[in-house]
Amino acid sequence: MAEKLLEVKNLKQYFNAGKPSEVKAIDNISFDIYRGETFGLVGESGCGKSTTGRTIIRLYDATDGEVLYDGVSVHGNKSKSEVKSLNQKMQMIFQDPYASLNPRMKVMDIIAEGLDIHGLVKNAKERKQKVIELLETVGLNKEHAERYPHEFSGGQRQRIGIARALAVNPEFIIADEPISALDVSIQAQVVNLLRDLQKEKGLTYLFIAHDLSMVKYISDRIGVMYFGKLVEMATAEELYKNPMHPYTKSLLSAIPLPDPIYERSRVRTPYNPEDHKYGPDEKVEFREISPEHFVLCSDREFAQMKKEIK
Ligand SMILES: Nc1ncnc2c1ncn2[C@@H]1O[C@H](COP(=O)(O)OP(=O)(O)OP(=O)(O)O)[C@@H](O)[C@H]1O
Ligand SMILES: [Mg+2]
Repeated sequence: MAEKLLEVKNLKQYFNAGKPSEVKAIDNISFDIYRGETFGLVGESGCGKSTTGRTIIRLYDATDGEVLYDGVSVHGNKSKSEVKSLNQKMQMIFQDPYASLNPRMKVMDIIAEGLDIHGLVKNAKERKQKVIELLETVGLNKEHAERYPHEFSGGQRQRIGIARALAVNPEFIIADEPISALDVSIQAQVVNLLRDLQKEKGLTYLFIAHDLSMVKYISDRIGVMYFGKLVEMATAEELYKNPMHPYTKSLLSAIPLPDPIYERSRVRTPYNPEDHKYGPDEKVEFREISPEHFVLCSDREFAQMKKEIK
């Protein structure tokens, strides 16, 4: 039986709650992440992916719902030592490699910050040694330690972000679109690096992306998000074989294939939420259509999907 490392239960994150400008960035989502797996979270810009990551690591208080990490509630009143322990176990690689590194700090100090906070090194020599080791782990070298973030390319900055996250020996890493700001030629390198690190260190990942092309290859399970809601969740294989929600189908239809004949005839299926035509009494819920495969749908849609599923 797979062990649940993270449990997200009925999580809500409303910005400007109660005001006319209210945004339901996360609107009642639930999912688990098992120890050692990669859980991919996909959806278009603004659907709430980063907010989900940021709420999980306590950058935001949740409006409602619960996040459990290894059985311990993440939100609410916590002692200093509990917060410190959670901050060490959960790390985030931020979406924007340009904005997420302090421009006035040398790479040495950016990476060593977590080491200092968590008392993981005894002296300056050990600190320097550890930073150099981390730089080498992510494919950089000791000369880079004395430089400032603006002296690096986007791919290198993302590597610095990865080194910073790794510094405190986390178990769980939220990688928020770690490759989307990078050149295509560098994307595979960073993904391979994350994969190798996972194998080596037994890491668990929440991997956020806006399309399915890369997530398909690296995720064990995938959740598809649309306007603050999870609309489908399944193993990567099942999601590709049996996409059930029309939004998932639309996302899949957007992936180009290296096949010119297929490409010429590929049509992007648009998603129109109006197509559901839900009646006022219809209950739209996240339902299990086959083991571990969930779809947000009404009873009527569920019955129809049951007939279609392969
Ligand atoms: N601090 C904030 N205050 C108010 N609204 C916010 C805040 N952060 C995010 N939002 C809104 O919440 C929604 C979800 O934003 P979020 O950044 O989570 O989307 P995303 O899925 O990560 O998008 P992208 O793919 O562009 O990174 C958006 O409508 C956004 O404008
Ligand atoms: Mg985002």
